[in-house]
Amino acid sequence: MSNHTNTSHENIDEDKRDFIYIATGAVAAAGAAALAWPLVMQMGKAADTLAAGAIEIDLSKISEGQQLKMLWRGKPVFVRHRTSGEIAEAEAVDVADLKDPQTDDQRLVATPGGKLDPKYLVMVGVCTHFGCIPVGEQGKVDAQGQYGGWYCPCHGSHYDTSGRIRKGPAPKNLEIPPYEYLSDTVIKVG
Ligand code: FES
Repeated sequence: MSNHTNTSHENIDEDKRDFIYIATGAVAAAGAAALAWPLVMQMGKAADTLAAGAIEIDLSKISEGQQLKMLWRGKPVFVRHRTSGEIAEAEAVDVADLKDPQTDDQRLVATPGGKLDPKYLVMVGVCTHFGCIPVGEQGKVDAQGQYGGWYCPCHGSHYDTSGRIRKGPAPKNLEIPPYEYLSDTVIKVG
């Protein structure tokens, strides 16, 4: 089975997963683990890094517009390969208007060459209000919120294409986990 096929299948499964997350948190976590581990094994490389609580992700396997969800230390991690439109939208925002002011660049980590690659956004997929899992499926207006990024249906928080809180009760932007680039296309989270 090709990687493309795998990731497409993952997208299909994620539709259900987002729904499950909303329905019941505990069951959702178990379901996410079951679905995420095979993907970790395909995309990451070493069992020793998994044992240490870190995961490696090959960004080149994520198509533009696609979002990968992984499980890291019991938390979902979203890795979005953003479109040029999403990046432009994130960069155009006046940070003075934000509840939790951060530029898009401040939410990125430099590659080994010292540059930022705005295509890839890596975040902890946990709403900063009461911890639900936001949805953020590209191309689904009802699942991206009013700012084209992520939406937490528990109490209606809207996050933009940089994962910054724009509307609703959540107090903070979606968290950026500790991660680093091992090469231009591979990151290690944790
Ligand atoms: S937990 Fe997300 S809006 Fe309340």
